[in-house]
Amino acid sequence: MRIAYFSWSGNTEGAAKEIQSQTGADLFKIEWVNPYSSDYNTVLDEAQRDQNNQAKPKLSVQVENIEDYDVIFLGFPNWWASIPMPIASFLEECDLSGKTIIPFFSHGGGRFGQSVTAISKLAPASVIGEGLSIHYSSGAELSDDIAQWLNKNNIKN
Ligand SMILES: Cc1cc2nc3c(=O)[nH]c(=O)nc-3n(C[C@H](O)[C@H](O)[C@H](O)COP(=O)(O)O)c2cc1C
Repeated sequence: MRIAYFSWSGNTEGAAKEIQSQTGADLFKIEWVNPYSSDYNTVLDEAQRDQNNQAKPKLSVQVENIEDYDVIFLGFPNWWASIPMPIASFLEECDLSGKTIIPFFSHGGGRFGQSVTAISKLAPASVIGEGLSIHYSSGAELSDDIAQWLNKNNIKN
């Protein structure tokens, strides 16, 4: 099992680390060549621009030995009701055919949006597991919510 994630303000990263501590899965941080701004108003524009153009930023770190993993937990924030475009870059660069992708994502009220549909389109030959929707950082329930969700996906923890 492997956890690949992107987090802009840390909420998804908190969940990724909790999944790691409950499963022992390896963490991989998705990074790209020209990172988005750390300024909120600027990143809103950058994210929307890349989504409108379906521009997939070039990743700066390649995930190694992805073929050795059957299950990939894929974490990201809900951005403009879908996936941040670097997640699309990751799905395009890695062949996850025949593997199970289990999405987890943080949101500010919009839950899944179009994100699971977007993942299915980019990884048509993968099985998509049951996703975990996290409201911002979720707070005290995060650990229990993750434990229950892992059970639903038949992941031993
Ligand atoms: C560029 C951008 C777009 C966003 N769009 C949405 C949205 O469409 N729906 C929503 O519920 N939250 C939206 N949010 C809020 C984030 O999903 C939320 O703050 C999340 O907890 C961030 O996770 P992170 O800390 O891992 O980056 C957006 C945030 C940013 C920065």
